[in-house]
Amino acid sequence: MTDHELLNLAIRASEHAYAPYSCFKVGAALECENGRVFTGCNVENGALGSTICAERVAICKAVSEGETKFTRIAIYADSADYCMPCGTCRQVMSEFSQDMEVLSANGAGSYVSYRLDQLLPHTFKLRS
Ligand code: THU
Repeated sequence: MTDHELLNLAIRASEHAYAPYSCFKVGAALECENGRVFTGCNVENGALGSTICAERVAICKAVSEGETKFTRIAIYADSADYCMPCGTCRQVMSEFSQDMEVLSANGAGSYVSYRLDQLLPHTFKLRS
């Protein structure tokens, strides 16, 4: 799958975002080593700290279906700035695949790409 195809899945996933509080809709598409793709959107909650980001929704869907090896995650928000994953999502990604690629597309249709270990170097691991 090309970067653009994965980003398009993230765009489609963002349409399901439940974001009545921030009105900031995010979509994610997570590619596993074996080619399976899981999508996610942000799911907000009136108790704001209970909100779950799109990236973690996709990761939890994948892990709950037995997938723990990830190659890429595409993230999309219709914003001027690239929507980069928050610290919690970076930590959750790093639990599984420190060398995965993180793609982020903005509303204008351009995207950037980083390796997770660039975004979260020296990550915390309880065991290696
Ligand atoms: N959000 C994500 O889903 N992913 C990110 O990478 C950053 C932020 C969500 C959380 C919340 O619903 C909204 O965007 C505003 O922070």
